[in-house]
Amino acid sequence: MIIFKSINTLNKEVNFKANIGFVPTMGSLHKGHISLIKTSKKACKKTLVSIFINPSQFNKHHDYKKYPKNLKKDIKILKKLKVDYLFTPSAREIYKNKKSSKIKLKKKDKIMCALYRPGHFEGVLAVINQFLQRFKPKHIFFGEKDYQQLLLIKKFVKNKFKITIHACPTVRSKDKMALSSRNELLTNADIKKSSYVASLLFNFKRKMKNDISFKKNRINIIDKINTLKKIKIEYLEIRNKINLSKNYNQKNFKIFIAYYNNKVRLIDNY
Ligand code: PAF
Repeated sequence: MIIFKSINTLNKEVNFKANIGFVPTMGSLHKGHISLIKTSKKACKKTLVSIFINPSQFNKHHDYKKYPKNLKKDIKILKKLKVDYLFTPSAREIYKNKKSSKIKLKKKDKIMCALYRPGHFEGVLAVINQFLQRFKPKHIFFGEKDYQQLLLIKKFVKNKFKITIHACPTVRSKDKMALSSRNELLTNADIKKSSYVASLLFNFKRKMKNDISFKKNRINIIDKINTLKKIKIEYLEIRNKINLSKNYNQKNFKIFIAYYNNKVRLIDNY
């Protein structure tokens, strides 16, 4: 595996005319990332992974500071997976000029995480924009766990870059909890509570699939989750999975949650 820190060298050494798959990450790799990488390896000739904890997407400085970092372990995982290229730039390398640090969102997109984490998606789009303007992979891979992120990136990239976006299903632990780098910040007791939240929401989804009027129980579910110790819901919303509007039916809805578990912010969708 060749490791690059500079975009110039990356462009010199990697033949982007070939079928290159790109998996952008913020490191602390888990089975969710591994499934993205395996999908890229199947679909593409060579796979490029980036590890960059993007400062512009953190709306709270302490959240950025405490974001888990495990570069040595990550490199071991990537070597074992036979990833071809790793890109680990510095913030200076990505944001050489200040103008590049944010991309604006439309007012109608300021819902859920965009509403509660002002500036977050603007920072995500800014880094994706920097990447795709400065090197040209043919395919890019994202997890459905960050579903709102996935739809915003799809929209942003659509008429701007010639690249195929691949959405990969959320990977879960045995007890249904979505894998996330942030899970490393949780204790075993916290993890049990998150698994319970996931099972409640899977159940809620199943009941709504049988009878959409069950949606009225959303408030009861919120109450039930909020009574758990050190758990606080930020939002629990049901939306149309194609366009995230509140206009949904039995076939096209998705349930979205963001909550704090012992001060760690987690998101999931069902
Ligand atoms: O999903 C993530 O890990 C990040 O938001 C991404 C897409 C790598 C951009 O920094």
